[in-house]
Amino acid sequence: MSEQAFDTGLSAEQLDPERPRPIETPWGMMALYRIDGRVHCVQAFCPHLEGPLFEGSLAGNVITCPWHAWRYDVTTGERVDLFRARFGDAARGLARCEVSVGPRGTLLLRRA
Ligand code: FES
Repeated sequence: MSEQAFDTGLSAEQLDPERPRPIETPWGMMALYRIDGRVHCVQAFCPHLEGPLFEGSLAGNVITCPWHAWRYDVTTGERVDLFRARFGDAARGLARCEVSVGPRGTLLLRRA
């Protein structure tokens, strides 16, 4: 059974490539990232202690959490910092949504 898409009401052009855009969805608060012309969607708050990941620093496709510096690739949701190996916590990636463009030109999200 396929899950229904959520229409963000936003177009890709409305997203600032420099800053993630948080958005409330049926699956909780997510954040939209526009990177190299493509839009990616991952959970807005950090899986560690719920820090505001979307307010972290973005370098390329990697966001660094402002609270304890865990780092994630927002195109895959994978955690990529060195602490990952140290604490054996590699599986703690980000929840993601697939992003597509609907008939009205707005971004549609589906839970990945
Ligand atoms: S809350 Fe994000 S690294 Fe701790």
